[in-house]
Amino acid sequence: LVEAALPAIATANAAALEELRVSLLGKNGSVTNLLKSLGGMDPDARKAAGAEINRVKGQITEALTTRRAVLDEAALAAKLAAERIDVTQPPRPDPIGALHPLSRTHEELAAIFAAMGFAIAEGPDIESDWNNFSALNIPSHHPARAMMDTFYLQAAENARPPVLRTHTSPVQIRTMLEWAKTDGLGTSPVPIRIIVPGRTFRADHDATHSPMFHQCEGLVIGEGITLGHLKGCLIDFLRAYFGIPELPVRLRSSYFPFTEPSMEVDIGWNRKTGELGGGSDWLEIGGSGMVHPNVLANCGIDPRRFQGFAFGVGLERITMLKHGIADLRLFFESDVRWLRHYGVSP
Ligand code: PHE
Repeated sequence: LVEAALPAIATANAAALEELRVSLLGKNGSVTNLLKSLGGMDPDARKAAGAEINRVKGQITEALTTRRAVLDEAALAAKLAAERIDVTQPPRPDPIGALHPLSRTHEELAAIFAAMGFAIAEGPDIESDWNNFSALNIPSHHPARAMMDTFYLQAAENARPPVLRTHTSPVQIRTMLEWAKTDGLGTSPVPIRIIVPGRTFRADHDATHSPMFHQCEGLVIGEGITLGHLKGCLIDFLRAYFGIPELPVRLRSSYFPFTEPSMEVDIGWNRKTGELGGGSDWLEIGGSGMVHPNVLANCGIDPRRFQGFAFGVGLERITMLKHGIADLRLFFESDVRWLRHYGVSP
């Protein structure tokens, strides 16, 4: 029995080994049956046979255990080999996102104006008629309302409908109202110095107009603020933003209901080469002016004591000029190739 069993055990695979164990040591196994047969022997024969059978059982058990250990070890080695990870292999590159060019402009403006002591203010996309128009000295039948291609929302009967803000100027009103209630009261109040980058809306759509676009408003209110401050601020901002130290900036007389005097803001460029800064042509990039006394009064600020200036620039417009982007619609199409080209990786 042992002579047959031991070589079989030594070469068995896992399944065969289990079969061998059952056929030898199981309930009906050959060794088990031998042990059962001891009961029918006389005491002397039983003693001798019992010792012999137990020796056989021990030998077989040991052989089974040894073989089992060898097989387990081999299985583990195979598993480790199969699941091996090459830690020296370089990782596959993960595609990383890039900042949208408008976000980049937003961040650049925030940094430039922060250096000049401006904070960032925000307001909602949906505005009251009063904040967007009336308080800004644009009365009900003023043509500026029609010019702005306003999106009107539904309103309760007899109420003026709220609007999608047509410019960031309503945040001037929100900021001045707050200031007049608190900070603007003392004997030497801290002036308002804010920029308002944000979404704006007009019902207009072509290569240079989008129904949703972005502006950045600027507002400074304090004692003794002059047009000289406005001009210096705009020149510093535009030269810093476009990275052109000598960039020509022109303020051209214009009209806005909420500023007096009002000026359009132009920068110099060369129409033939498209180069910014050089040449003798001008590009309009925004509006500006001294805050109208009516607007200050509408916000509870005494126009005899306080003066200020405001400006508004189109964010898409200055971004297109800086980076040579031809079509405004591309800003909002989420074309990954375009975003990769004009965006900045963090
Ligand atoms: N709100 C004006 C516009 O959208 C721009 C502007 C802002 C003009 C502030 C003067 C002062 O056209």
